[in-house]
Amino acid sequence: MASAKEGSAAAQDVVWRLIGPVSELSNRQCRLIYSSFGYDSDVCLFRVKGDFFAMDARCSHSGGPLCDGDIEEADDVLQVFCPWHDYDFNLRTGKSNTGLQQQVHEVKLEDGSVFVKHASFLSLKPFPLGSKD
Ligand code: FES
Repeated sequence: MASAKEGSAAAQDVVWRLIGPVSELSNRQCRLIYSSFGYDSDVCLFRVKGDFFAMDARCSHSGGPLCDGDIEEADDVLQVFCPWHDYDFNLRTGKSNTGLQQQVHEVKLEDGSVFVKHASFLSLKPFPLGSKD
């Protein structure tokens, strides 16, 4: 459960952000998590083989939607392939064989809930317009 400190943290602090119950977030391979910083800071929360991974949702190449990408495993490395130009990104490190780096975020499970470490507020629903602070 989120502590009072987590709930009142300033948006610029990189702290654990409560996303939701593990049970609710386990039924899809990827969920788009909205950032209070806006579209470019949204996050993909992947659930693969029982583990959660979080990375920026817009591909570092040209902004493709990584939540819509295919996930494959080769040599014990889990990768998401961007649906626009098929670049690969390691789900754990964000590294691509193309040399690009996708920003990844730490994930933890606590008391049946998923938390992602991030500078902005995060939500399963879009933030109302004009609420970026
Ligand atoms: S936009 Fe993702 S590979 Fe080009």
